[in-house]
Amino acid sequence: MDLGLNGKVIVVTGGGAGIGAAITRACLAEGARVAVLARHSASVDEFMAEMEASGARCELVEANLEDARRCEQAIREVEERFGSIDGLVNNAGNNDRVGLESGSVEQFVASLHRNLVHYYALAHYALPALKRTQGSIVNISSKVALTGQGGTSGYAAAKGAQLALTREWAAELLPYGIRVNAVLPAEVMTPLYRRLLDATHDPEAELKHITEKIPLGRRMTLASEIAAATVFLLSATQSGHTTGQHLVVDGGYVHLDRALT
Ligand SMILES: NC(=O)c1ccc[n+]([C@@H]2O[C@H](COP(=O)([O-])OP(=O)(O)OC[C@H]3O[C@@H](n4cnc5c(N)ncnc54)[C@H](O)[C@@H]3O)[C@@H](O)[C@H]2O)c1
Repeated sequence: MDLGLNGKVIVVTGGGAGIGAAITRACLAEGARVAVLARHSASVDEFMAEMEASGARCELVEANLEDARRCEQAIREVEERFGSIDGLVNNAGNNDRVGLESGSVEQFVASLHRNLVHYYALAHYALPALKRTQGSIVNISSKVALTGQGGTSGYAAAKGAQLALTREWAAELLPYGIRVNAVLPAEVMTPLYRRLLDATHDPEAELKHITEKIPLGRRMTLASEIAAATVFLLSATQSGHTTGQHLVVDGGYVHLDRALT
């Protein structure tokens, strides 16, 4: 199936690790050019070196997205280097566990900057470019937006707001033909997930406990499966009439009958 992404320029935040890296790979496999907006880290360096060695049309724009000014500069840099923007995948985030009891108001606001404000800032600054291409936005949210988790108010607020903004922007951007959708993962093994798991008393027992409750196949969702849903939503040829949608890719974890597991 041709997704019509050949030569398109896609911005992927956090696109050098975990789910973002899988999205970058999927976009590249479709012939797209990818601007990875991410903080510097050893794993991101390693990923970018692999991309360079394979000749992939992928460049890093190094940015701490918690800084809104840097978001503006990063979008400008992408436009200078790539010439246009056809898609924005807001993906970077961190389940930072700022709880109602355990956190403070200051930590809550900081969590919103870590997880939410850059979704708005990047969409805002990329909008003129997206209008020119009738581009598309995909927001990576989380099951936490629908189910809660406990002890993570900042992250939950951000993830819920991402779903509201998906619908809000889909409505606001109708006149420009810009589609906006969200993908909601639940349990995907990534560096972030590994860190959270390793912080538990018995990581392997915890992992078994979680996967046993995932109805389809009793397994974690693959990052490549989140990426496949994302490239579909980026594709104007294949999802050209899909906007304002929240697509839960989780093996039935959130919505199927508990009795099944
Ligand atoms: N892994 C899961 O099971 C899961 C479940 C639900 C939702 N999600 C969501 O998927 C997205 C990706 O998660 P992941 O598990 O791949 O995370 P990850 O930490 O493994 O990878 C995210 C990448 O984004 C970068 N990043 C994060 N915040 C940044 C910032 N402010 N500025 C620049 N770079 C930043 C990180 O450094 C890292 O390279 C997140 O929005 C997360 O909330 C993940």
